[in-house]
This record gives sequence, C-alpha cells and structure tokens, in this order.
Amino acid sequence: MALLDDIEPLKRAALAELKSATDLATLEQSKGVWIGPHGRFTALMKQLGTLSKEEKPAAGKAINAAKLELEAALAERRGELELAAALPKEPTDFSAPGRRRALGRLHPLTQVTEDIVRSFRKIGFVVADGPEIEDEYHCFDALNTPADHPARDTQDTFYLASTAPNASPSPGEEGRGEGGRQPQLLRTHTSSVQIRVMEKQPPPIRIIVPGRVYRRDNADATHNPTFQQIEGLYVDKNVTVGDLKGTVEFVFKELLGEETKIRFRPHYFSYTEPSFEIDFSNALVKKLGKDWLEIAGCGMVHPQVFENVGYDPEIWTGWAFGFGIERIAMIRYGINDIRLFYENDVRFLKQL
Ligand code: DAH
Repeated sequence: MALLDDIEPLKRAALAELKSATDLATLEQSKGVWIGPHGRFTALMKQLGTLSKEEKPAAGKAINAAKLELEAALAERRGELELAAALPKEPTDFSAPGRRRALGRLHPLTQVTEDIVRSFRKIGFVVADGPEIEDEYHCFDALNTPADHPARDTQDTFYLASTAPNASPSPGEEGRGEGGRQPQLLRTHTSSVQIRVMEKQPPPIRIIVPGRVYRRDNADATHNPTFQQIEGLYVDKNVTVGDLKGTVEFVFKELLGEETKIRFRPHYFSYTEPSFEIDFSNALVKKLGKDWLEIAGCGMVHPQVFENVGYDPEIWTGWAFGFGIERIAMIRYGINDIRLFYENDVRFLKQL
C-alpha cells in the first residue's frame, strides 16, 4: 500500500526541515511546502479518494496524525526563533565597564569664583550678597560718588525706565532724595554691597561679594554688558595699606601661582583714599608679551563712606577692592574673547 508507506518518510523529512529552519521567514516557507493549502500533506489528503474503502481510514488517520505532529513542531520552532529574534544580537559581556552618563561641570567663571572664595575663606572672610537691582544711593551716593560723575549718566548705566534720572516722575513721586523714590538701576559694580552690609552690622567686617554687574557696553572681545565681579571689604581698628597688599598678594599667589608678583599704582576712586590699581605679573602675563597686567582697583575706605553708614571714621579703618572675574578667567585659561563665557557652547566649556 504505497500511500501509507509514503507518510512516515515524508513526515520525517518535513520535521527535519522545520526543526532546522534558522529564521522565521524560512520556517513560514517550509510550512507552505508541507502543510499549507498547496502543501504536500494536503496533496496526500486529496489522494485518499483513490484508495479503497478498507485502506482509507488507516491512511486518513496516519496523515492527520502526521499533520498534527508537524503543526506542533512548527509552533515550537516558531517560538524558539521568535525568542532568538527578540534577544540582543551580541552576547552580553558582564565584565564590560558600565556606560557612564557624561557629567556636566562647573562653568569656568564659577570655578574661578569658587577658587577666589576658597582662598579668602582661609583667612577669615565670609561671602555676602546684595541686590542686582539697586538704587542710586547704594550704587553711587553712599560711595561718595557725586551726582555729576559719568558713571551716573543714563548712557553708562541701565536705569529702570520709570525711575531714570531724566524720566518724568509719575504722580505722587515728585522729588527724590529724602522721602522721594530713588532711581532704580542695574548695579554697575558690587561695591554697593559694601554699603548694604555696613548699614546692617557693626564693625569689624571681613566680607567678599561675588556677583553679577551691568554696564552699557557693546559686546566685543573684552566687553560685555553683564559680567562678574568680586568685591572685598575689611573694616577693623588700625587697618593699613600693608594689610591690603598682603591680603591681595596671598590671594593672587593662590590663584595664579606662587611666582605671581603684584604692584600697586596710585589711582582715583571716590570711595577710597588713597586708591590704587593693582597690576600683576607672572608667566601668563609674559606669554602675552607684557610685563604687568592691570587686574583690580582698591584702596583704604574713604572716611565719608564710614560717615554715610554711621561708622566713626576716627575709630574705624578699612580697605576695599574690586575686580572682574572674567579677566582672571581669560588669563588663567588663555581665552581671548569674553563672549565665549556666555555662549554656553559645550564644546568650549568642556575644555575648561
Ligand atoms: N567698583 C570698582 C569698579 O567697578 C572696583 C573697585 C575699586 C572696588 C576700588 C573697590 C575699590 O572696592 O576700593 O571698577
């Protein structure tokens, strides 16, 4: 009986093919070849009609059993291949180092500020803070800066429109000074915080004030309408220029290297007397082809400033300084354009 004898070898061949399929597409193709509507087992079924009555039941049963077996094998192989497809292509290497998230870092200006603050903390200074929107009194008058000083010109300073010196006062605001509303501005220096701190607490004082300041400058390689300063103020009895120079020297050596030299040049600031500009010199300055670079302003606190905050200038003495953070950062990192600090291009920031 030829048909019945054909079933077993055909089934074995089909099973072997299904089990060895290496991907889902090949498996589905094999399914079609063997048990699909035009498959070979379907063809066998059709041949049943040619058999005798006696032979039919046994052959039909055998074909059905084989078909069931093939369907089971097909499902099993499909499961295996689907699982394999879902797994990662590469084997997992558990000894490989983990994937690190790129960590951000502090902005170079923050790094420099923190270094300066750290140096001053070592010698007993604390950080103080004040408002960026200031009034004219704290930014200028209290610092002995007269009304006709160019810094107070609306061309040099950002005034808040309705309070600007030449704005017409809104009703009820006529008259300034005592009782009147102070013109409001964006502080042009951190020196205003000297006044705010001294108004609030009695001497002695040892503060530094890092902070943002504003000037009506057009942005170019060395100017920006906003930049950072650090102010220092020291008030006690018998404070001398020697204390000022020693302190500045200590901090600059920490910041820019042990071989850094500083020198004082006479200058004028209305809130200090005498006043100086500080120049420094080291290998970085030499690299720029110069002997000295101007870095800060300073001086002994003017007696009038003490009067303005209610300190007795016969008892108290002090010094103050102020310098720009960007300038120091530019020298330290060899950067020639201040605007790079504000563009926040990570390709630049990553290098520092
Ligand atoms: N305020 C000055 C500026 O913005 C810097 C300065 C000079 C601050 C002398 C001081 C000082 O405290 O004593 O250019």
